[in-house]
Formats: sequence, C-alpha cells, structure tokens
Amino acid sequence: MQATTFVEDWLCYNTTLGEGAYGEVKLLIHRRTEEKIACKIINHQRYKDAATNINREVTIHRMLDHENIIKYFGRRQEPLKEYIFLEYASGGELFQLIEPDIGMASHAAQTYMKQLMHGVNYLHNKGITHRDIKPENLLIGEGGVLKISDFGMATLFRYKGKERLLDKKCGTKPYLAPEVLQKPYRAQPSDLWSCGIVFVAMLTGELPWADATDRNVEFAKWRKDVYISETPWSKLGNTALSLARQILNLDPNKRLTLEQIEKHPWMKFNFDCGSSKDNVDGSVERPTKRWNSMVEAETKHNRDTPQVTLSQPIITYRPSSIDQLINDLKTTRREQVCFSQPTQYEDLMIQFTQSPITKDNFHNLSKRMTRFYVTVSYEKTLEALCSVLDTLHYSWTTDASGAVTISTVDFMKNQLIFKANLFEMDGRILLDFRLSKGCGLEFKKKFLKLKSCLCDIIDK
Ligand code: ADE
Repeated sequence: MQATTFVEDWLCYNTTLGEGAYGEVKLLIHRRTEEKIACKIINHQRYKDAATNINREVTIHRMLDHENIIKYFGRRQEPLKEYIFLEYASGGELFQLIEPDIGMASHAAQTYMKQLMHGVNYLHNKGITHRDIKPENLLIGEGGVLKISDFGMATLFRYKGKERLLDKKCGTKPYLAPEVLQKPYRAQPSDLWSCGIVFVAMLTGELPWADATDRNVEFAKWRKDVYISETPWSKLGNTALSLARQILNLDPNKRLTLEQIEKHPWMKFNFDCGSSKDNVDGSVERPTKRWNSMVEAETKHNRDTPQVTLSQPIITYRPSSIDQLINDLKTTRREQVCFSQPTQYEDLMIQFTQSPITKDNFHNLSKRMTRFYVTVSYEKTLEALCSVLDTLHYSWTTDASGAVTISTVDFMKNQLIFKANLFEMDGRILLDFRLSKGCGLEFKKKFLKLKSCLCDIIDK
C-alpha cells in the first residue's frame, strides 16, 4: 500500500474515513507497529470559524476516557491546518449497519443501545452533553464496540453540581427533541430523546419524522397518539414500542431517565439470535431479508486508494458530456487513479462469508453495504452511472481522481452529498459509494435506488 509520510513513523493513507463540518478524517498507520489511528484534518483557510469551535471540542474531548467513547490522542497545529488524532474505529459508522426500511436484528440493536447508554451515562456523569447523537456519530470499533464520536457540539451542562439550562438550538433536525426548538431546555433528556430516535432507526431503518415540530404531520400524529398502524411504529413489537414511547415522551420531565431505560424489559430481554422469534413479545422478525443482506455484506471497512497527498487540492469539474469524462480519465486523470496503482487488496477487500451469524460475529459481517461489483468496464460503468444520475436529476461532478461527487436533496429537503469511486479488485470493477454530507439513512435509500437502476451491470 502506498502512502505519504505524515509525521515521523506515521503513514497517512488517502483513506477518507469520514467527512465532518470542517474537513476530512484520514487513516494513519504506524510504519513499524502497524497501529492505526484516525486523523481529523481541519482546514482553517476554508473554515474561518473552525478555530474557536475546535478548541471547545478538544477541551471537552480530552477530558474523556471511556470504552464507548472515541479516544482523543492529541493535536498538531499548523498555520493553515490542524490535525486531531483520534482512536480508529475499524467498523465504520453505525448507520452503515442499518438497512433502509428494515433496520437490524433486535439483539444487535440491543447491544448497541446498551453501549450507547453506557457512553451517554459516562458523559452525563461528567456534566457533559453531546447534543448531536445520531448513527453517523456512533462508530463501531474492534469487536463491534460502539464508540460515541464528534464532540463538536458538546458542552458542559453541570458544573460543581449545579445544572444549567441550555438555549443553543443545535444538533441534527430529525434527532432533535421538541423542547430544543423551544428553549431553554435540559441537557440530559434531550440527549436521551436523540438516543430514542437512534433506537427506532436501528429497529426499523426509518426516521419517524423530519423534525419534531407541530408543522410535521408524522410528529403531530405521535403527539396525538394516532400513529400505531403506521410505520415505523407498526414495525416494532409491543415491548420495543413501549420503550420508544417512553423515551420519546414529549415532556422532558416525564421522559425515561437513563437508569430507567437500562431497566426497561426490552433492554433486559435475552434475544435468542438465530431464532425467528426475535422480539420480546414473540412477534416474528423479518429475518430473511435482513440476515440475507447481512450475510452478503462485507467484512472489511471501506478504504479509498492511498496516493494523493494531504495537501493535494481537490479540483472538481463537470465534464460537458460523459464521452468527455471518459476521455479525460483515459488520458491525464486516470494515471492518478486507483487503476494505475497496485490493487489495494488487503485494504479494500470484501469477504463474503457463509458462516452462521451469531451474536459474536454479526458485527464482522455487515460493514459497508454501499458498494457492488459490476460486470462491465471502467468506462462503461462510469457511463452507466452518470446517465442514471442524469435521469434521476442528481447533479454530479468529478475530480482529478475520477471520483464522482453526487449532490441531491433528501425527502426532508436537506442537502445530501455522496461520492462514487471505482476500484479495480482482482480484475473486477468495484463501485463504491460513501456519504459526504447529510443523513446516513437517506444516503442508503438513494444508494438502493441507484443500485436498482444499475442492476443490468451488477455482478450478482
Ligand atoms: N470516521 C470518523 N472518525 C473516525 C474514526 N475515529 N475511526 C474510524 N472512522 C471514522
């Protein structure tokens, strides 16, 4: 694998692990020990308000040391850029494990919910609120351990035993408690509300509403208790629904506390994995589709190809035609692309597994599901992709590496940006999609749409 030397003994790979408000997260690997860490790169030139916010984030993050929280290792400040070194979570983001409209198995959701509660409990005991809990900020480390990440919106709500009310409207709309929009609000119940939305997303693959406001029809129904026959609620068993109702209680003072959530029967239930009776109340799961898709899924975390240096500018352009794009890539651009590199087999590899799914290995089976092999050439794939994008009226550009950046809006009219990359693997072409900005579940829905449009060229 090729990479650039970052600081002594650490190689920086062009693997984008994630993208945040101020830049990208890259993978660093130690030359000798092969230890992996994540490096958040903040571009001060591009984001003028970054410095103050990053300082606040670091001040909070460096105080934290818990198994369910991404560890902070340190920072390096340069005039134009800043680097934050973090624990690397090899399993990627939780949202990648949530199948749109389906969710995940109850025992998996229960494991993550327990770990989420442990992490949030630790934060709240320290007087810290995260304020942006969502599947995109929940990473999965070795052994499937959930890790809360991104403390960009975190703040202190208790100091020397005295709690203060918060009044800053921040977070991500579908996950925001209704009182946050009405301020001032209490920190702990509002974080737990967001956990409740994550809970529903994990079990149903859906977000219940775009925002918890009176203007929102779905939320209005929840408020009036006239929702039960509709999704996502109709997908939940009685016990899961009981937990959802009590976490998503409109009154923050009546909402379940963290201790009460941990004691709820759904959290205590011994899910018998492998059995179709996965629900506490005996209602039957939909295991076939869910588990089939998990078995098909990959075991290794997504990687992009190394090679481009940290400082290399990303120039995007929109070719006048697909022919022009193909032509460009054939000549200058393609030399810089993964095609001219040796295959990053170890790094990019997808392993399909036949082994039975158990509680112990489920986290290994379903990492990136947003990629597939195709049966046609690089050029034909690009041509098919771009023509589907045009048909669907998604705008797109390409950069020097041949990656296609796709920009659209989700059903909530929020911006959704994701990237498509083509890799050669073992003589086959892999088309890989990665979210850049927006809601993870919405991204996966768009991915499924694109995948169905490209079914003719997919290698099944
Ligand atoms: N994406 C964002 N931060 C990450 C981290 N620390 N490890 C893995 N993926 C990430």
